[in-house]
Amino acid sequence: MSFLASSLARVKPSPTIAVTTRAAELKAQGRNIIGLSAGEPDFDTPENIRDAAKAAMDAGKTRYTAPDGIAELKQAICEKFARENGLTYTPSQISVGTGGKQTLYNALVATMNEGDEVLIPAPYWVSYPDMVLLAGGTPVTVAGTADQGYRITPEQLEAAITPKTKWFIFNSPSNPSGAGYSREQLKALTDVLLRHPHVWIMSDDMYEHIAFDGFEFSTPAQVEPKLYDRTLTCNGVSKAYAMTGWRIGYAAGPVELISAMRKIQSQSTSNPSSISQWAALEALNGPQDYVAMSREAFQRRRDLVVKMLNDCDGIDCPTPDGAFYVYPSITGCIGKTAPSGKVIETDEDFATELLDTEGVAIVFGGAFGLSPAFRVSYAAADETLVEACTRIKRFCEALK
Ligand SMILES: Cc1ncc(COP(=O)(O)O)c(C=O)c1O
Repeated sequence: MSFLASSLARVKPSPTIAVTTRAAELKAQGRNIIGLSAGEPDFDTPENIRDAAKAAMDAGKTRYTAPDGIAELKQAICEKFARENGLTYTPSQISVGTGGKQTLYNALVATMNEGDEVLIPAPYWVSYPDMVLLAGGTPVTVAGTADQGYRITPEQLEAAITPKTKWFIFNSPSNPSGAGYSREQLKALTDVLLRHPHVWIMSDDMYEHIAFDGFEFSTPAQVEPKLYDRTLTCNGVSKAYAMTGWRIGYAAGPVELISAMRKIQSQSTSNPSSISQWAALEALNGPQDYVAMSREAFQRRRDLVVKMLNDCDGIDCPTPDGAFYVYPSITGCIGKTAPSGKVIETDEDFATELLDTEGVAIVFGGAFGLSPAFRVSYAAADETLVEACTRIKRFCEALK
């Protein structure tokens, strides 16, 4: 019998990290590799935020804090929810964690019992199913296909709910598809959820601020206030303020759940980094110029990448509403043969062959639960994106 926990056997390592690692290996061998697989802004953390961190260190704010966040940050988060989302929370309803990932994970660990199901629309952020498995629950996916704009329909949601459904995870704009739900599209889903009072809603709003063409972001507790008492609204500073390495995320919800999450955090990481919390406070309360600047840059890059990928044989790339990913469908490439003789049977074959022949690292759709497709993270310089898309085009042209 293995020394390792049996729960681990059900969990895969993050495929996005696996691709990044393989690309790094090839680079170390001297290959010219373009990595478009990592999910983080390529900008530096804004100066005012870095300065706030330095000031916090110099002021001796370097000790343990309350397990789920300093009072000042919780207050700023309450103000953010009121100002940007029309949601009223008090500090006792706020949990700050080591990244959005930890808050989502805490919530799952705090609520999962054996047999509990969690509904996850696909394509999904790679970590959702595995976090559910680690927490002892069962992920149930619902496919939001390309012809549905990578969104699920209210009918699909209704059909997927069972007496065992505990959570519905909602992510708009989405990683990996960039698809966002309009207020009306979201309202159609919340109408379904109203009819099923045993289902809780975990809304992952991480890409709220990266939305294009005037897309108006909305979140379930705002669209349907009757769901407020069973919604955990999750967000963070990683993507909005180029702070992925600082590891600060937060969630707001009913006091009982937030207290349970605090208990878990107090016995695992104790508290998120004190310095990062002071930096996050400045991110939320300070000037917001970075948010507008990065949104503009990402929209320009999105347009560039969508246009160039739609020019490639066998690729169909929808235009996303937000985030910094595109999720082109590659139905037209499947079954073709690469110059190496390799038949492209799956999107994983496509990704491996593309990396090996053209040195472009992307993540295959299977990792996100919807195939055949791949994800490009366009959080990279314009010239890099042009070069990458040129290589992808050459790769597609060579497929016979
Ligand atoms: C949809 C989504 N949610 C949550 C996270 C976690 O963000 P972090 O833990 O860096 O705050 C990510 C990061 O990739 C994400 O894409």
